[in-house]
Amino acid sequence: MNVPKHVAIIMDGNGRWATKRGMPRSAGHLEGSKTLEKIALHAIDMGVNVLSVYAFSTDNFKRSKEEVDYLMDLFVKMFNTKFEKINKKGIKVVISGRKNHLREDVLQAIELIEKRTEDNQAGILNICLNYGGQEEIIDGAIKLAEDIKNGLDVSAFTRDDFYKYLYHELPPIDLLIRTGGELRVSNFMLYEMSYSEFYFTNTYFPDFDKSEFNKALFMFENRDRRFGEIHDSQNH
Ligand code: FPP
Repeated sequence: MNVPKHVAIIMDGNGRWATKRGMPRSAGHLEGSKTLEKIALHAIDMGVNVLSVYAFSTDNFKRSKEEVDYLMDLFVKMFNTKFEKINKKGIKVVISGRKNHLREDVLQAIELIEKRTEDNQAGILNICLNYGGQEEIIDGAIKLAEDIKNGLDVSAFTRDDFYKYLYHELPPIDLLIRTGGELRVSNFMLYEMSYSEFYFTNTYFPDFDKSEFNKALFMFENRDRRFGEIHDSQNH
């Protein structure tokens, strides 16, 4: 099977999942966090090397204080106590995003989970938190400008070279999944998804289970990825 090396998920629909059940939106986020754990373990079992997930965008700070506080509390709790299965599985956890505006306890939990899992080799879970795709490109461009100022020769600089200026130098995204029915990329990992295949599903993220994930993998296997080239069979 041709398994995508880097899968990214826009985990949308937590709020609607809860509202549909007459529950507060926070219940959807809690259920979503359990789904995330299951999908991360499963993705590694299926041979995926890197799983990136959109946990909190820079724009999510515009939500109610109550919801932002709940999500931040959830991240702290998950990183500090609930990621043991992920650690035992040998998954290295990295967090991508800006560090400004984050509470001290969130920053500490991020540092701890990254440190606790840094030697793990089975795969990478990249959690995008206080993250924006355009912001990641801007932050990379600023670092590159600094290097140029210090004498870096960019006369032969390629798009592959720019990966090392992104938050964690992860490979390009092969497959992007968005749950929750919307058809947009919402400022997620823009540089890394330039040639990714897209899989959209109406399923709300808390209901996105292993078999749904496998459906996306099967779809990926059957896509013809040409990266701008024309394959021989079509070249007549
Ligand atoms: C989008 O659904 C989801 C979020 C903004 C939060 C995603 C967070 C999790 C799944 C928890 C992850 C936990 C860890 C530890 C990283 P929405 O609220 O926009 O849903 P809606 O579109 O139905 O309102």
